[in-house]
Amino acid sequence: MLAGGSSGRAALLALLLAVALSCVCSAVSIDEARKQLFAREKMMRLGGQLLLRKEEEEANGKLMTLKKAEITKAMETQKFPPSMHFFRAKELIEQSEVFHILKKMPKGAALHLHDFGTVDVDWLVKNVTYRPHCHICFTPRGTLQFTFAHPTPSSLKQDYCSKWILLKNYRRNLKNVTEFDNSLIRNFTLVTKNPELAYQDQSAIWAKFDSIFQAISGLVHYAPVFRDYISRSLEEFYLDKVIYLELRVLLLPVYELNGKTHDQEWSVRAYQEVAAQFAKDHPEFMGLKLIYSDHRTKDPALIKASVRMAMELRRAFPDMVAGFDLVGHEDTGHTLYDYQEALLIPSLEGVTLPYFFHAGETDWRGTSVDNNLLDALILNSTRIGHGFALSKHPAVMEDLRQRDVPIEVCPVSNQVLKLVSDLRNHPAVALLATGHPMVISSDDPAFFGAKGLTYDFYEVFMGIGGMDTDLRTLKQLAINSFKYSALLPSEKKNALWTWEKAWNTFIGELAKT
Ligand SMILES: *[C@@H]1O[C@H](CO)[C@@H](O)[C@H](O)[C@H]1NC(C)=O
Ligand SMILES: *[C@@H]1O[C@H](CO)[C@@H](O)[C@H](O)[C@H]1NC(C)=O
Ligand SMILES: *[C@@H]1O[C@H](CO)[C@@H](O)[C@H](O)[C@H]1NC(C)=O
Ligand SMILES: *[C@@H]1O[C@H](CO)[C@@H](O)[C@H](O)[C@H]1NC(C)=O
Ligand SMILES: [Zn+2]
Repeated sequence: MLAGGSSGRAALLALLLAVALSCVCSAVSIDEARKQLFAREKMMRLGGQLLLRKEEEEANGKLMTLKKAEITKAMETQKFPPSMHFFRAKELIEQSEVFHILKKMPKGAALHLHDFGTVDVDWLVKNVTYRPHCHICFTPRGTLQFTFAHPTPSSLKQDYCSKWILLKNYRRNLKNVTEFDNSLIRNFTLVTKNPELAYQDQSAIWAKFDSIFQAISGLVHYAPVFRDYISRSLEEFYLDKVIYLELRVLLLPVYELNGKTHDQEWSVRAYQEVAAQFAKDHPEFMGLKLIYSDHRTKDPALIKASVRMAMELRRAFPDMVAGFDLVGHEDTGHTLYDYQEALLIPSLEGVTLPYFFHAGETDWRGTSVDNNLLDALILNSTRIGHGFALSKHPAVMEDLRQRDVPIEVCPVSNQVLKLVSDLRNHPAVALLATGHPMVISSDDPAFFGAKGLTYDFYEVFMGIGGMDTDLRTLKQLAINSFKYSALLPSEKKNALWTWEKAWNTFIGELAKT
């Protein structure tokens, strides 16, 4: 029943009219409003404000056409590499045209790498273990040790190992040497057909990680191999279009055939000499700097000595040693807060020692480990290694952004070490979308069965960036890799100039295809 007669009808009409009008208005304006939101979000994205030259726009068009086609196809087949475990995704990634373009793209620098996780382990097995005087021993747990010595050492310091066997003799008695060599390769990486089964939790995979390090330690710390390893690292990254590296290094003793060992200064000098030689042979190569690091399992009293060592090395090699960091499984190690006394030594003594802390490489929110992000900020870390948990700390995030302190995002590492399984859900998605300072790196590509930096760039571009992140973001990431490096201002300028030349060539070729 209608109450109020005609005046009620008039009110109803007015209401209907208002609804109709608002429909018409929003139908007209929804596209405009969306356009404005799209434009705003595009500007907020990392690199969103870069202006591309005409040729870059053309190259971008080519790249984005391929990218959109690949993602659209993946939505049909439901086979999208960034959402799959890297061990299974790798082959698919290698079939991607986008991946091949990224491989050719000058990516700048890799700022988060560890000393012996950089070189394809094939080389360790097929080259290093075939060198004269290489000995092997087997532990009851099935892990391996190696040493170079002459004559064959009789006894072992580690009593849990069998006697040393000359590898040449051991191989001579094998039925199938290829099979043995393949087992060594398996020993030296985390790669396996069924990673979910092999590594049920993070501790299991970190245990294997540590066993790899122990297995290769005797190989890579043999002086001639040590130098070759450095050279190979530079080569592999150089071939992957990376022209500058910063390595976290433990600087454990390097030994000679007669058992004589060298100290940390010797090792720094070896890095310096090999990098200088490499730069001489490859003029576009910008070199290498070291971040002296110690293990976060160590007692706080011992870390005081490491901080002093870092200060000493930086004083002796100011353009080679960039600073200090703590490495190892964060969840089970000491926190930065535990180490505060050691870490405050430089500032109390008025000495500059830049920090490059791994922090927030954890899924456990609100724990003392998660709070490493707070202490990394308070201790003025120059960059944050991973910062995986950063989005859970809005105040830290805000301050880091304001101080322009970047996170070092290593997607393949985060996935393999079980922090996140589908890289579309990596926390860097939101950070990239809001232009938070970041660089991309590959952590320990050799142990993950990766190589160089391109696999991580692929995961970022396709998985973390999503459908519409374009060449601007890639360009900004490359620029960031120098901007946030420990290069001196004059070195930065030179590196950027060198990179830009290569970039323009790359763009020219991509635009032409
Ligand atoms: C082993 O590697 C070294 C250094 O990269 C190289 O000079 C040598 O030719 C390699 N040897 C073999 C047998 O591949
Ligand atoms: C040795 O092992 C490899 C790898 O398992 C295999 O492909 C090859 O056929 C084997 N060779 C012989 C002679 O059995
Ligand atoms: C490591 O190598 C040894 C010796 O060949 C082998 O017995 C063991 O199964 C290997 N471990 C893995 C994980 O492949
Ligand atoms: C960090 O930087 C601030 C501002 O420059 C300074 O006051 C503080 O002492 C620094 N802290 C450390 C531990 O170096
Ligand atoms: Zn790391």
